[in-house]
Amino acid sequence: MAAEIIDGKQLAAEIRKDIQAETEQLKKQGITPGLSVILVGNDQASRTYVKNKEKACRELGMKSVLIELPENISEQTLFEHIENLNEDPDIHGILVQLPLPPHIGPNKVIEAIDPAKDVDGFHPINIGRMMTGQDAFLPCTPRGILKMVQSKGIEIAGKHVVVIGRSNIVGKPAGQLFLNENATVTYCHSKTTDLKFYTQQADILISAVGKAKFVKADFVKDGAVVIDVGMNRDENGKLCGDVDFDAVKEKASFITPVPGGVGPMTITMLLANTLKAAKKVR
Ligand code: GUN
Repeated sequence: MAAEIIDGKQLAAEIRKDIQAETEQLKKQGITPGLSVILVGNDQASRTYVKNKEKACRELGMKSVLIELPENISEQTLFEHIENLNEDPDIHGILVQLPLPPHIGPNKVIEAIDPAKDVDGFHPINIGRMMTGQDAFLPCTPRGILKMVQSKGIEIAGKHVVVIGRSNIVGKPAGQLFLNENATVTYCHSKTTDLKFYTQQADILISAVGKAKFVKADFVKDGAVVIDVGMNRDENGKLCGDVDFDAVKEKASFITPVPGGVGPMTITMLLANTLKAAKKVR
């Protein structure tokens, strides 16, 4: 039987309605949620992501400020921009788009952001709070994935979640969020031997590897929930995920499409985090 599709675009639209209503309320009290995005260099994919984030912010009535900096900017100058935003009362959320040019260390940059404005949820303080189950800004893509699974009433406690990919942005925090929900979590990555041995045991399979149509039908257990975080181009230049969608959808119980799956949810969680940051100001 073909899987039910988890429509990220539709779920995102529903959540955005609530965020928009709360934003309007906050504005009546004189607070306009403000996000500042720093984009360093000319990476085209990053530029597209950033434009989409800005557009979504404005559509919901939030303030969005883009700071574009040249590829050869010094670490020191970048820190000065971050410090100014940390001090700016009209800016509630700060996001430095990754990846950064090789001469700039991402960890130092992330740690320069005020944790109370870290709407990406990348600061070690927020990661530590997430790991210990405290209130925190949660990383946007993992939080979006969790919301998608929960939106379908899928049981998580006691289920085996297998994550392919161990990035700080997606893989690691995604596993942690599902662990917080009492799942049993396995992390797989490029050095995992016999990947299929693990993925075939997954009740919920999350793929964040960045390889077009990498997850084939024989990776997947009958009835599994399959979440595709990939954003790739196939051999014809068409946007596709990590999952061989047409084949895997015949085996899975639920599946997320690309585009229209995890992507819109990531941006929506950024908006939710920006609203949360603005609400804390009162
Ligand atoms: N690059 C790819 N995804 C992200 C993200 O969620 N946040 C930031 N800051 N950079 C990214």
